[in-house]
Amino acid sequence: MKGNEKLLTVLNELLADELTAISQYMVHSEMCDNWGYDKLHKAIEKQALDEMHHAEWLIQRIIFLEGAPVVAKLNPIQIGQSAPDMIGKDQDAEQAAVRAYNAAIRLAHEVDDQASVDLLTNILKMEEGHVDWAEKQRAQIEQMGLESYLSNQAEGAAG
Ligand SMILES: [Fe+2]
Ligand SMILES: [Fe+2]
Repeated sequence: MKGNEKLLTVLNELLADELTAISQYMVHSEMCDNWGYDKLHKAIEKQALDEMHHAEWLIQRIIFLEGAPVVAKLNPIQIGQSAPDMIGKDQDAEQAAVRAYNAAIRLAHEVDDQASVDLLTNILKMEEGHVDWAEKQRAQIEQMGLESYLSNQAEGAAG
């Protein structure tokens, strides 16, 4: 089924965002592992896997709409140098994703592509969950202090 060209372009832009997020989160996740912040490592790794699903769903949709998925394009990757820096940079990326998915949903409505609206809405809800996760971490850092927060992230920590 031939999809709208403008929407296909936007789906490919979202795909580039997702592929960028996968790379950024894999690096952050492994940096946390290297520091022994096991819980943070696992949480960020799970987020990278969510983004991989998003990339997969976008590729499926682009192929269904008879477009060509572009998987060789990455946007600039923002690597944090400390755990709070990573969380802040990931939160920025997630907030940008929420804006981009909202804009793409508006376009999919305009071109009367309800199935793309549904797919993009499902992804949007997951991106909102990612923003929420980052907000929770920042609230905890603020309330318990960075040292307590990080000691909770270390392997074998309670809670
Ligand atoms: Fe995503
Ligand atoms: Fe995300």
